[in-house]
Amino acid sequence: MANTFLKSVVDFTKNVKTTGALYQTSKQIEKEICSKIDQETKIVVEFGTGLGNITQRILDKLPADGKLYSFEVQAEFLEDVKALIQDDRLVLINDGAQNFDKYVTEKVDCFISSIPVTLIPKEVVMLALEKSYAALKVGKYFCQVLYSPFHKKKFSAVFDEVEIKTAASVPLGFIHHCQKITA
Ligand SMILES: C[S@@+](CC[C@H](N)C(=O)[O-])C[C@H]1O[C@@H](n2cnc3c(N)ncnc32)[C@H](O)[C@@H]1O
Repeated sequence: MANTFLKSVVDFTKNVKTTGALYQTSKQIEKEICSKIDQETKIVVEFGTGLGNITQRILDKLPADGKLYSFEVQAEFLEDVKALIQDDRLVLINDGAQNFDKYVTEKVDCFISSIPVTLIPKEVVMLALEKSYAALKVGKYFCQVLYSPFHKKKFSAVFDEVEIKTAASVPLGFIHHCQKITA
């Protein structure tokens, strides 16, 4: 366990400009960001697999006939996740969030994103958000973890409702639950 933690710190620090983090998100954040997934959820898309901690939490909540597409730009992280998680419901894709629609053709029940939106060019973020809104089923959620409450506008520009929940962690996590209300 300690070795896994140390490895994640080393991997995340090595790639901090892309990961936007020094270590993996906390259990509290994992719990809150996955709170919209229930037994009716079939198709989930994750942006920013990292070393797979949120990925595993999503799989724990997903029904047996569900499917999770998880996107990560760092191929080496996906190699680690492949070794750690063997689950037929999981499809790992080495590509950016903004290209997810090349691989996911069905309507989506939930998006879970931990990509560093403050480090990625704004036009790339907005493209990913707009494509996500288009692919999302009505009534469903795009959930994003951030470490600041000051980027709500980006999400409100695309989604119909945005609610921010805090997750007690260091640093404090701000989970943006963004809902699509109209078709
Ligand atoms: C803050 S880390 C989160 C990793 C893990 N999900 C967690 O919560 O600990 C963000 C991850 O997003 C990946 N990433 C950055 N830009 C991305 C993009 N455009 N599409 C998909 N993944 C991206 C990074 O390589 C990194 O692994």
